[in-house]
Amino acid sequence: MYTGLLHLHSFLRWLALILIIAAFIRSLTGWLNKSEYSPLDNKLSLFSLISAHVQLIIGFILYFVSPIVRAGLADIGGAMKEPVLRFWTIEHISVMIFAIVLITLGRSLSKRAANDANKHKKIVLYFGLGLLLILIRIPWPFMQIGEGRGWF
Ligand code: HEM
Repeated sequence: MYTGLLHLHSFLRWLALILIIAAFIRSLTGWLNKSEYSPLDNKLSLFSLISAHVQLIIGFILYFVSPIVRAGLADIGGAMKEPVLRFWTIEHISVMIFAIVLITLGRSLSKRAANDANKHKKIVLYFGLGLLLILIRIPWPFMQIGEGRGWF
């Protein structure tokens, strides 16, 4: 189960990233060009939210079955001094949860905003920050933390 979920979580990063980036870019251009917040914009932010929440659920399951997280949790004090264990036990989960909270807030504030410009603005700000946090805390293969991990 662990390997299957890890592959799924790894692959779904792309779906989440594509949707969040698309929602962000559409709202950025919509905000700048003062265009309407269309049904497509609404769908993009909804599917971004769903994909982020699916990652959250799979991530939580992985957190409790992952051998590397278990090793970190077995000795939290020691894990804090070891960058790889610290990344998997604390950094990845906390930054990703914060990013997903921002995306959730962005969608809900945008839904409640009074006009289209404000709807776009909420998506730009909250999705933009959430996206940045996700991008810096993915264990990319070119990072030391992602050594040996794949692109998919
Ligand atoms: C949009 C949010 C997230 C993205 C894009 C993301 C991305 C990734 C990626 C790319 C990997 C490496 C997969 C591999 O090596 O094949 C990974 C692993 C992992 N993620 Fe996430 N993640 C997200 C959110 C979360 C959350 C919220 C949690 C915890 C609640 C979490 C827990 C984990 C765990 C435990 C691992 C596996 C560590 C291991 O055993 O190697 N992730 N994640």
